[in-house]
Amino acid sequence: MKEEDNNIFSVFDELLPREEKEKLLNQRGKVIWMTGLSGSGKTTLAKYLEKKLHELNYLTQVLDGDNIRTGINNNLSFSEDDRKENIRRIAEVSKLFVNCGVITINSFVSPTEEIRDQARNIIGENDFLEIFVNTPLEECEKRDVKGLYAKARKGEIKNFTGIDAPFEHPSKPSLELLTEHKSIEESGNELLAFVLDRIKF
Ligand code: ADX
Repeated sequence: MKEEDNNIFSVFDELLPREEKEKLLNQRGKVIWMTGLSGSGKTTLAKYLEKKLHELNYLTQVLDGDNIRTGINNNLSFSEDDRKENIRRIAEVSKLFVNCGVITINSFVSPTEEIRDQARNIIGENDFLEIFVNTPLEECEKRDVKGLYAKARKGEIKNFTGIDAPFEHPSKPSLELLTEHKSIEESGNELLAFVLDRIKF
């Protein structure tokens, strides 16, 4: 459908260019997209990165599975279709932030190549940095911070990623963090160095 058929007209051409906002902030907007199993350390690393970037005067926004799913996406389940819709909305929201020059740090399981490609396509290849937080299932299950793996094993939660729903490893992540034998600081600083190289104005 053409936009005109819907009585919707794009105003994007008339808006203040992103470049001007990036100049104001003295940074480049990017989406740092953290993917990995529940309990892999995505959110811990996202928070670490945000704190360090803030100390260095960068403006950031963290979006996270647990807060988005209690707010804008509180009507979505973990079925394949709802996970796609979850990620589609998050990608659209991220695009708004990035067009405002904000460094957007996302931590979502985003379990399949298809879902992550959808996000990449919405956000745009240049602005999308895919970070694979690669922590083995056994380790995530051992940590089981939220007690969800135990519930999934008992069949109390269905479609749990890694148990009875798939997690596909990203084939070409921008960065892979192997966290199992590392401290938060070690993995966090690896991530920070990678990001700093890509957000300088
Ligand atoms: S995604 O698959 O749609 O990307 P998202 O990152 O938003 O998932 O949410 C994952 C978080 O929801 C997990 O960290 C966990 O706390 C919780 N959760 C609840 N049920 C499930 C489930 N069936 N599969 C995965 N995570 C779940």
